Formats: sequence, structure tokens, C-alpha cells
Amino acid sequence: MIVEKQVPLQAYNSFGIVAKAHQLVRIREEADLLGLLASADWAGLTRGGMPFVLGGGSNLVITGDVKPLVLKVEIMGRRLVDDGPKGWLVEAGAGENWHAFVQWTLQQGWPGLENLALIPGTVGASPVQNIGAYGVELQDRFHSLDAIDLRTGESFTLDAGKCGFGYRDSVFKHASSDTRDFGLAGRALITRVRFWLPKAWKPVLGYADLERRMAETGNTAPDAQTLFDWICAIRRAKLPDPAVIGNAGSFFKNPTVSPDVCADIIAREPKVVHYPMPDGSIKLAAGWLIDACGWKGRGVGNAGVYEKQALVLVNRGGATGGEVVTLARAIQTSVYERFGIRLEPEPVVI
Ligand code: EPU
Repeated sequence: MIVEKQVPLQAYNSFGIVAKAHQLVRIREEADLLGLLASADWAGLTRGGMPFVLGGGSNLVITGDVKPLVLKVEIMGRRLVDDGPKGWLVEAGAGENWHAFVQWTLQQGWPGLENLALIPGTVGASPVQNIGAYGVELQDRFHSLDAIDLRTGESFTLDAGKCGFGYRDSVFKHASSDTRDFGLAGRALITRVRFWLPKAWKPVLGYADLERRMAETGNTAPDAQTLFDWICAIRRAKLPDPAVIGNAGSFFKNPTVSPDVCADIIAREPKVVHYPMPDGSIKLAAGWLIDACGWKGRGVGNAGVYEKQALVLVNRGGATGGEVVTLARAIQTSVYERFGIRLEPEPVVI
């Protein structure tokens, strides 16, 4: 086990923020972590608090050098676990790049993840955030995951029911409380994730952007590869590529309100983009709310609001985590003052 010191993190966070990890250990296989937890060094390395688990860094704002021990998850490997009559069970190491994994499943002839193409980050981070796009959420394809408890060194497996999936939410985003043993934030390091891809595949097409593609091309029954290509093209047209412009995808969640609150807003702002949800609540488009407050293209220091999509904050070059956070707060304040709605950020701030 090698403890690296003063490791630059710029390449390890999709915002491209310049910061260092005081101490960093790469976890390339389960044994690396188990050895570290059992070693005499562990107590000293974690004296400053629980370690910080770093995946692809695509949902992260770093506001300074990271003092807690950073565990960088680099567990690789992709395999077919089971080829059953009803579906394929596929597994990937937590350190695998998400998009490359999606591409690989399609190349193997196992459709099902195409709507989740081009989402930045790693396989291990995908259940934490319950990533979602174009009508599919990770939880719809998730089978189970393996993880290691950083406090006890025990390995455990969770199925979907135990992951507490919600909209951009899971058990991995909540701290455990004394009253309920719910919450694994900061406690679990996910090592491998399995997906169940049904053989009775149907394209998921219920999004306006996809309906537009169908109308343009005359293809109303795209295969999985075509759908993958469409999703990539749609995302490339409106979302910045983190390799070129630092960003963390949507910075805020789309807020949910009651029908009464929504009716109130519509009375004042008839154009507000809103979607009724199956549970009777209404989801509002946070991007529209931010855009309506005039934020597109504006910024704080080197942190800005992307010109083509107000929900995405970008690093225009040399932005600090502090500038990103200040910008996010200013946006929250103006959306609250105009609409009475509190926007909740998606990324983790450290
Ligand atoms: N809109 C504006 N101005 C803007 C941005 C959006 O008016 O600056 C309007 C759009 O015209 C549209 C509506 O707001 O009518 C919604 O925008 P869009 O379709 O782009 O989707 P979104 O709600 O902004 C969500 C997810 C994305 C996901 C897309 C497609 C969240 C927070 N974001 O974005 O996820 O890719 O739907 O499914 O749920 C992410 O989480 O990082 C992410 C990119």
C-alpha cells in the first residue's frame, strides 16, 4: 500500500478545480482496502476524520486542499455474470468509466443502458447519485452492489430495495442516525455494481428531445445503438464536455412542489416548465427557473452559468470551489426571492 502525499486533484474532478489531497491511497482491488483497514497505519491516517471516497469526481466541488485521507477507487473489470432466459446480469468494477461501460454493454449485444449514455463519472458513483436521464434511472436497471464498510472492514452486498433509491438520491447520500439505521454516507466504499438487462428490450422514448429526433429521421422504432447515438448527440448539443469546460452536470435538482404551490406560480409566471409526477406532486424545471432569473451567461469570478443550459455551472478557467459555491448561493437566493423555491444542489461540496 502506497500513501501518496500532496496529490494534485485537478484531473480527478470534472470541474477541474485546482486543489491537493494531503494523502491519497489508490484502491485497485478489494484486498488493497482490506489490507489498509487492517494495517497499523489506518488509525494515524484517519485521525482527522473518516476518509473521503473519490470516484470519477464528476459530482464534486472542492473548496480547498482535502485533509481527510482520500481513497481513490480504481477497481476495474467488466463481466457477464449470468445469461438467463429473461435477461443478462452484468457486473463492473467501481472504477470503470460509466460511459465506456454503457458502450461496451451495447457492443456485446446487451441493450438497456443506452439512455444513460455520456453521463460523466464512474460505475461506483452511479448508484450513489441514482443517475438518470431521458426517462431511465439507474434504479430501473440496477441489480445489486458489493461494498466494504470502512468502519468494520466487513464486505456486504445490497440489492435495490436496500439502497433507498430516490430522485438523485440513495442510502449512500445520508448519514446514519441513532434512531434509524439508514444511511451509509462516508461509511461504505462501493467495489462492484451489477445490472440486470432484460432480454425483452423496449426503447424508452417518452422525452421531447427524442420525439423530435423520431420526427426528424422518420425512425419511430430505433434500436438501442441508434438511441445511444441520439442521446449522445442531444447531450453534446446542450451540455458542456467536462474535458473542455469544467462542470458537474446539472448543479441543482429539479424541485418538486404541491399542485397548489404550482398553481400559485403559474398564476404569476404562466410559462414555468412543469411536469406532473405519478405521486400527484409537480416537478419544476430548475433550469427554467434559473434562466428566468436571468442567470444564463453570468457568473462569479471564473465560475459561470453555462450559456446553453442554466442548470449547469461551469469553470471558465481557474475557478475556485469557493467561487462555484458563491455563485450557487447567489442563484439559490434569486430563485427563492422570485419563486419562493429553495433549490437543492446535486454535487457534494468538500
Ligand atoms: N430550460 C430553460 N432554460 C435553461 C435550461 C432548461 O428554459 O437554461 C427548460 C428547457 O427548455 C426544458 C426544461 O427546462 O423545457 C428542462 O430542461 P432539460 O430538458 O434540459 O432537462 P433538465 O430538467 O434540465 C434533467 C436532468 C439531466 C438529464 C435531463 C434529461 C436533473 C437535475 N437534470 O435536466 O441530468 O440529463 O433531464 O433527462 O434532473 C444531471 O443530473 O447531471 C443531468 C444532466
